[in-house]
Amino acid sequence: MDTNGKLFRKFLEREEKINNQFSIENAKKQHSKGKLSAVERIELLFDKDTFEEIDAFVIPAPLTTSFGKITEAYGDGVIVGYGKVSGRLVFAYAQDFTVMGGSLGSVHAQKINKIQQMALKMGAPIVGLIDSGGARIQEGIASLAGYAMIFKHNVHASGVIPQISVIMGPAAGGAVYSPALTDFVFMTNKTSYMFVTGPNVVKEVLNEEVTNDELGGAEVHSKKSGVSQMMYEDEEHTIQGVRKLLTYIPSNNVVNPPVVLNPEETPDYNERLRDVVPDDPNKPYDVKEVINLLMDVDSFFEISENYAQNIVVGFGRLKGQTIGIVANQPKVLAGTIDINSSIKAARFIRFCDAFNIPILTLEDVPGFLPGVDQEHMGIIRHGAKMLYAYTEATVPKITVIMRKSYGGAYIVMNSKNIGGDFNYAWPTAEIAVMGPDGAVAVLYRRELESSEDPDALKKELIKTYRDEIANPYIADEKGYIDEVIDPAVTRKKLIVSFEALQNKHVARPAKKHGNIPL
Ligand code: HXC
Repeated sequence: MDTNGKLFRKFLEREEKINNQFSIENAKKQHSKGKLSAVERIELLFDKDTFEEIDAFVIPAPLTTSFGKITEAYGDGVIVGYGKVSGRLVFAYAQDFTVMGGSLGSVHAQKINKIQQMALKMGAPIVGLIDSGGARIQEGIASLAGYAMIFKHNVHASGVIPQISVIMGPAAGGAVYSPALTDFVFMTNKTSYMFVTGPNVVKEVLNEEVTNDELGGAEVHSKKSGVSQMMYEDEEHTIQGVRKLLTYIPSNNVVNPPVVLNPEETPDYNERLRDVVPDDPNKPYDVKEVINLLMDVDSFFEISENYAQNIVVGFGRLKGQTIGIVANQPKVLAGTIDINSSIKAARFIRFCDAFNIPILTLEDVPGFLPGVDQEHMGIIRHGAKMLYAYTEATVPKITVIMRKSYGGAYIVMNSKNIGGDFNYAWPTAEIAVMGPDGAVAVLYRRELESSEDPDALKKELIKTYRDEIANPYIADEKGYIDEVIDPAVTRKKLIVSFEALQNKHVARPAKKHGNIPL
């Protein structure tokens, strides 16, 4: 080819224009708000020099009305493409707030649609780096249609490829619903916010003054609303978090997660596990200590750490294999299951099931959280979500009952009869319809009322209940669990049992889809 010819010159001119477009000035605008530019975010997400951009030269659709104006920028305010993250193919888009506030017009939407379809076709995860004022007002209905297409592709890809949304500035109006439809929402503290209607509308309609951060900041969504699963203090750490998450999950629903071995081995036999559960059954402890003793060194990656802390969920590794962990947390609300913890666990279980990730359940649960609030807000409906998710899941499922395992909560936490593959209990397990106090109160109310020494009688009855009913041995003898094990050998048991389950296959009756209680 003649590199001094007209055609090549035109090619070079275009290259130069686009390089100038992503100028230092634009990056500075972002930096002044404590944010990175779209280009910098893409560079942080992908392995060095692996990103391939698509549709860099598309131009925005021209306006057909006189309202507003369009910035004539190549790319229409979004970078899209693919590259490698830890050596594996990943698609991504990054909205550029410096171009019409990252707002979504029809061409901007088409670009995202294109890589959504490519990611689905090629079986690769997709990451959205979102920094957007929502639907582009001046493009009207075309913007709304663009969002509708993105949402449609999000739903079609759900359960087929992992979808991750990273909020790195505003996500206003339509910009919030794509993240809500994806598997994980990451946010950066103080510089990102999400809301359907912003502070101005809140002021107009309700006459309430509220800031962006108070209305929809990262803390709000990771602690209160549960919209966001992950929060980090700056954009670098947020993107590193995304890269880390990707190491635990498979590229799509027909392959297994990557195996990542840690040369530093966790001991398979660990006597420390015998002492984690305190002798006093009412004393709390931190279940994360158990998780860390069981999993490969430094492999536990917690999801939704700040939300519904009475249940802990996250990924860990056993001999390099990804495991999804669901664990009651006795340190918070005594580990009871309430509405939020049921929803949190159910969503996590369904992600693991969709993406071939075996599930380990660590159980210490006194029951569902009692109370008027919980009942009126629908603990029946919401509690059923977790029950549904566990029962529906066909991936390998193992439960270890560490201590309390009472009533409906016993059933929900992957009990044998809803489909647990291996169910183990430690000698400290208490498996029964209800706790000793409740059981004695219901069955011996009259005797206690007429007793001369009700306290002594109650103490004696509780001891009998614990000795004869609320222990792991009846369940073991009747086959409701598979084995009472020495806590010290738990890791070894898990490795052997998950290995035995690696070719597990479950056939369910054909149906369009189930009807999980929403
Ligand atoms: C077109 C937009 C825009 C939008 C921002 N801009 N949002 N242009 N459509 N939706 C432009 C601004 O005009 C401005 O252009 C530039 O982006 C930067 O915006 P600023 O307001 O200067 O920035 P900032 O002060 O940081 O405020 C950011 C913001 C605010 C909070 C996001 O811009 C805002 O409130 N935007 C509107 C948000 C919103 O209500 N979106 C919902 C749309 S309805 P110049 O030229 O001055 O630089 C929707 C419905 C879809 O999305 C429903 C689907 C379910």
